[in-house]
This record gives sequence, C-alpha cells and structure tokens, in this order.
Amino acid sequence: MGTTAERTGDKAGPRTATPPDFRTALDDAAAAVAAALERLLPAPDGLHARVHEAMRYAVFAGGKRLRPFLVLQSARLFAVEREHAVRVAAAIEALHTYSLVHDDLPCMDDDDLRRGRPTTHKAFDEATAVLAGDALLTMAFEILADDATHTSAAVRCRLVRELALAAGSNGMVGGQMIDMLAPDKTFGADDVILLQRLKTGALFEFCCVAGAILGEAGAADEARLRDYARDIGLTFQITDDLLDVLGSTEKTGKAVGKDKDQGKATLVSLWGIDAARDKAQTLARHAVETLAPYGTTAAALQALPGFLLDRDS
Ligand code: IPE
Ligand code: IPE
Ligand code: MG
Ligand code: MG
Ligand code: MG
Repeated sequence: MGTTAERTGDKAGPRTATPPDFRTALDDAAAAVAAALERLLPAPDGLHARVHEAMRYAVFAGGKRLRPFLVLQSARLFAVEREHAVRVAAAIEALHTYSLVHDDLPCMDDDDLRRGRPTTHKAFDEATAVLAGDALLTMAFEILADDATHTSAAVRCRLVRELALAAGSNGMVGGQMIDMLAPDKTFGADDVILLQRLKTGALFEFCCVAGAILGEAGAADEARLRDYARDIGLTFQITDDLLDVLGSTEKTGKAVGKDKDQGKATLVSLWGIDAARDKAQTLARHAVETLAPYGTTAAALQALPGFLLDRDS
C-alpha cells in the first residue's frame, strides 16, 4: 500500500512528503469525490428515473466537500490506497447529502434554499426528496460493502458498522431528534454540546477514523483521530451557528437567521457571539496539537481548524 507517504512501523510517527497547501487539498477532495459520485450514482433511467435525477440534483449542487477532505487526508496519514479512500469519501458525501435533503424538508427546518439553489423538495416534490434521501443513505452502505472499497472484508465490515453508528439514532439522527425538540426545552451548554456532537460531530468522527480503519492503524491512532474530529466537529458547528447569525445567504447559499426564528438551541444563543467564538478557537488549537505526532503529513488537517474559524460559507 502507499501512494503519498511511506508506511512505517510506528504508525504515529512522522510521515514523508511536503504537505499540500490546504486549498489545493480541499479542491483535490472536491474533484475526486465529484468524479467518483459521477461514476457511482445511477444514471436517470427507467420508470423511476426521477429519484435518480433528484439524487444527482442534491449531490451536484456544490458544497464544500469537507467530509471527503477529512477522509482523504486522514487516509493519507496511513498511506491508504487512494481509490479506497475516494470510495469512502463518496459514501460519506452521499450520506451527508441525504441528511441535508431531509433536514430541509417542511417537517424539519422547512428551508427553500440549499447550496445556493432550491432545496430538493422545492425543485422536485416532498415525496421525491424523501426517497432521494433514503436512496443516498442506502447507497453509502452499498459503496462501503463493495469489494472495491478494501481488499479485507473485515475492514469493509468495520466501515459499515462505524458509519451505521455515526449516522443512526445514537449519532446524527439522534442529534437531529434533539434539535427538533429544542424549541420546547431549556437547554444548558452541555445539552447543546451533546446535540452538536451527535448532529454534526458523529459524521466528522467517522470521516477521520475511516482513514485509520482503512490503513488498519490500530486503536491508538483511531482514538487520536477521534479526538481531533470531536474538536473540529464542534468548531464547525459553532461557526455554522455563527454564520446563521452573522453570515449572508449570498455566501452560505442557505437562509440565515433561522436558528433564532425556530428557537434552535446553539452555543451562540446561549453564550453570545464572542464566547462562542472563543470556545471555537480553543477547540481549534487543541485539534492542531492533537495531530502533532503525524508531523507534516497532517499539515492539511491541521490547517482545517483555521479555515473553519474564518469561513464565510
Ligand atoms: C451543513 O454542512 C450541515 C451541517 C452539518 C451544519 P456543510 O456546511 O458541510 O454543507 P455543505 O456540504 O458544504 O453544503
Ligand atoms: C443540520 O444542521 C445537520 C444535519 C443535516 C445533520 P443545521 O440544520 O444547522 O444545518 P443547516 O444550517 O440547515 O445547513
Ligand atoms: Mg437542522
Ligand atoms: Mg437546517
Ligand atoms: Mg445551521
């Protein structure tokens, strides 16, 4: 195995190669996952072509492709074969897109705009959006289970299980459930942090741990990557919540000001803008330190927290 870094006995040891510039790495992930999804998504065909059209509409609407970036860069730490990592990146982006399609439905956040264009239920209809989301979710597991994702069936099985845990009722779905109940509850900071760790952090954790699983790196590396993912997951969600207050629809490609209107609990609403930003900065610093054992091979991952803090979309 090995494309970008030498595999060493000490899996937490320094890796080779000059780290790619962060933007280049993000663009690389976006291009690789777009090409993979183009191949993997069914072509609209037959009596049910409409569901395939809606899946493609939701997936190819842009998006930052942060989760694919995390998969590719965490895989890079363990010299994972590129094609294996790209397939896992495609799986998580399909699943993430499902979560957005459902999150925007009238029964949830009731949003009309996503990634700068009409939400899937607006461009198609609610039933089609529900089905397209279901199909994207299911497709993610089809991709992971396929022989092409890893030569070891045990590795593929672990990926399937980890993604099921991250996306399920004790992961992303659980977080979305708490989020829907939030307007009727009085949440403290710990409740909000749990909500966000589940709703957003769980998929980030999967992305980072996936690199270690693909590389068969072992428990210590998995724990380190999970630690990093928790910090950047919360950093990411705090900035999402800050953008809901301070950002623009033009830049984010989605409605702003909705968390307050819908009574959604966030650390920004609880602590105010400055304290929430301070917390995000502390988490970002910790995330960078966590990856120090990987040396320069982790440079792009270490640049991500800074990007998250500064982002306007
Ligand atoms: C938005 O995620 C949904 C949240 C988890 C807050 P992203 O901001 O990563 O959305 P895209 O993929 O770039 O559109
Ligand atoms: C959505 O969170 C999280 C998931 C889709 C799992 P938000 O509701 O805050 O996301 P946006 O702001 O609509 O992108
Ligand atoms: Mg929501
Ligand atoms: Mg939403
Ligand atoms: Mg939001």
